[in-house]
Amino acid sequence: MTPTSTGIVDLTAESIGRFQQHILTWYDNFKRDLPWRGDSDPYHILVSEIMLQQTQVDRVIPKYLTFLERFPTLQSLAEASTADVLRQWQGLGYNRRALNLKRAAEIACREYGGRLPATVAELERLPGIGRYTARAVASFAFGAHVPVVDTNVRRVLSGFAGHDLSERETWELAERVLPAGRAADWNQALMDYGALVQKATPRRAGEPTEPFTSSNRFWRGRIVDALRASGRVTMDGLLEALPYPNRDDERVRGLVRTLHEEGMVSYNVTEDDVALSE
Ligand code: ADE
Repeated sequence: MTPTSTGIVDLTAESIGRFQQHILTWYDNFKRDLPWRGDSDPYHILVSEIMLQQTQVDRVIPKYLTFLERFPTLQSLAEASTADVLRQWQGLGYNRRALNLKRAAEIACREYGGRLPATVAELERLPGIGRYTARAVASFAFGAHVPVVDTNVRRVLSGFAGHDLSERETWELAERVLPAGRAADWNQALMDYGALVQKATPRRAGEPTEPFTSSNRFWRGRIVDALRASGRVTMDGLLEALPYPNRDDERVRGLVRTLHEEGMVSYNVTEDDVALSE
C-alpha cells in the first residue's frame, strides 16, 4: 500500500469491502435502539441531529421525545414563542441551537411549503445547519448517497486508515468507503461503532470536568437558565440568581446586552428588567 498525496493509505477495493462488511454486520447485530432510528421524517431527524451536535445521546433521548410532543411539526415550531422553545430546550445547553432550529422551521414554512428541502445545498442554507447536519438529514431522511463525519466517524476511519486523519482526509476517505445503497445505515453504523467499540480515550485523572466555568458560553447558558426559572426579573435579581464565586457583574451585564441584541433576551434598560424573549 502506498500513501496518496493526501496522506491516506491507498486502500484496495478488497480491504474497503472487508471493512464495510465488518461494520455493517456489527451494526445489524448491535445497533443502538434510538428513538430517531427507523424514522425518516426529516423534521424528526433534524431535531435529533441538532440536539446531538453537542449533547450526549443519553441526555438527548428524553428531550427529543418531549420536544416533539410539544412541537410535533415544523409549523408548530415556527409558530411557537422563542421563550417556549427555550423552555423546552432546558438542560440541553447551547441555546442558540434552539433559536436556529426555530428559524429554520420558519424558513421551511415560508419558502418550502412547510417541508424541509431535500438537498445538501439547500439544507446548508438554513440557519444552524452546517456540513455535518445537512448530510445527516439528507442521508437519514432522504436517502441521499452522502457521507456524514463526526468525531466518532473520524476515529473509526482513522483506525481503518492506520493513522490519525485530518478532518479533510476523513471526509475524503468517508466518500470513498460509502457503500452503494446503504448510506443511511452505514453512517449510523460508523457512529455507533465509534461510540461503543472504538471509543474515545477516557479523560485523564486531574483533568477539569467543568472546563467552561469562565467562558462566555458557560455564562450565557447560566443567564438563560436563570431567566427560564425566574421569568422577568431586575438585573440585580438576575445577578442574585447566579451565585457563582467567580461571577463578574459587568461581564453578566455585557452578556445580557449581547443576548438582547441576538433576540434571545429582552432587556429594558429604563426599567432595568430582563426576561427571555417572547
Ligand atoms: N450522534 C449524532 N447523530 C447521531 C445518530 N443519528 N445516532 C447516534 N449518534 C449520533
